[in-house]
Amino acid sequence: MSDSIITIKSVASQQQLVIERPNQGLTLQGNLTVPGDKSISHRALMFGAIAQGETRIQGLLLGEDPLSTAHCLRAMGAEISDLNSQEVVVEGIGLGNIQEPTAVLDAGNSGTTVRLMLGLLASHPDRFFVISGDDSLRSRPMSRVVLPLMQMGAEIWGRQNNSRAPLAVQGKTLKGIEYCSPIASAQVKSCILLAGLNAEGNTTVIEPAISRDHSERMLKAFGAKISTDAETKSVTIQGGSTLTGRDVFIPGDISSAAFWLVAAIIVPDSELVIENVGINPTRTGILEALNRMDAEISIENRQVIAGEPIANLRVRSCQLKGAEIGGQLIPRLIDEIPILAVAAIFAQGKTVIKDAEELRVKESDRIAVMASQLSKMGANVTERPDGLEIIGKGNLIGTEIEAYNDHRVAMSCAIAALMAKGKTTINGAQAASISYPDFFETLEQICQIN
Ligand code: S3P
Repeated sequence: MSDSIITIKSVASQQQLVIERPNQGLTLQGNLTVPGDKSISHRALMFGAIAQGETRIQGLLLGEDPLSTAHCLRAMGAEISDLNSQEVVVEGIGLGNIQEPTAVLDAGNSGTTVRLMLGLLASHPDRFFVISGDDSLRSRPMSRVVLPLMQMGAEIWGRQNNSRAPLAVQGKTLKGIEYCSPIASAQVKSCILLAGLNAEGNTTVIEPAISRDHSERMLKAFGAKISTDAETKSVTIQGGSTLTGRDVFIPGDISSAAFWLVAAIIVPDSELVIENVGINPTRTGILEALNRMDAEISIENRQVIAGEPIANLRVRSCQLKGAEIGGQLIPRLIDEIPILAVAAIFAQGKTVIKDAEELRVKESDRIAVMASQLSKMGANVTERPDGLEIIGKGNLIGTEIEAYNDHRVAMSCAIAALMAKGKTTINGAQAASISYPDFFETLEQICQIN
């Protein structure tokens, strides 16, 4: 790259990112990889910790969220090697053997850590646990996991009628249940499956739409007795199965790749190849949505590694058209909606994103925050109770943006800034390190000014 368009400053313990778009000649070019999948990273650490024997993990995401999972597991007796090494080794302590921690477990900003972990804690009798997290996590709803766990016999207390962290758990012997979840949530499903793993009898979870299935795939690979039925959208686990440690290869996170897909589409004359991205069908909603909008994305070099499909994604700039995105597609692209909203600003016509009310209870209220921040930049975005309506007209203008401590908001706005006239300042840009610590370095690497 000839000249940097990115500056990062520290302001009152926050990072302020300034992106100044040149008047002409900016394109994005090159081959790149994205960090390991966040969902799979959490699961590799957790399942490795409760397995028997050693689990060797390659490609672990070193974002703050999986690090929170690792710290909680260490506090309960799991031995996890240096997280910065190429291969992370987890010495499994075996199901039933997690120890009572001497302090409050800190899940940081990570919903996946607290919700999945609750399934484990609740099913370990005679031990007491308290789990909490940062301001955002303490405001997020936990009844979705607390209530089914209570049906299994769990004892859990928390603020606001047991619905908010800090949560206190007295571990018990749980009983398997059949649970019809009112929401399509992999966190809810995985929590109940983890509780079911150490419960008496079988546990079944039925979802209204299929959510990401990394837990099912990995639990099966670790030897759990688990079966899925795509037609009834149900999964059943047998209590008491033993997990055996194994090698896990973590593919690149499609949720991180999504930023580059949209960036290359909207910045004219760009072409990027994102290598080794996980393309598990429960996660590829973003590819389907962008294709529906006429994007040019090719899937190359498909392989299956350690039970997860991966491929290279080649993307070129093109003119998008508006589309309606909703229904069963939503759980398959839930984390990509903020960046999809940025793509829609550059599409011809109207894009409607609906059935996505879950976005209101993510790391921030992503419907309200994306609508307000993109509107500040001059986009025509209207908030709906369950999503966003966007009239594509381009013409963004650089301004001051707040990331609201939400990694996906920070990164989505940074991509919008590549197409905004003049200077965009993003306050709280350090949030990106939750899921993508090198995001800004990579952005700098692929920007070319001709
Ligand atoms: C995740 C599931 C999704 C997603 C989150 C990670 C997981 O949440 O938004 O970032 O790893 O299971 P829900 O399952 O609650 O929709």
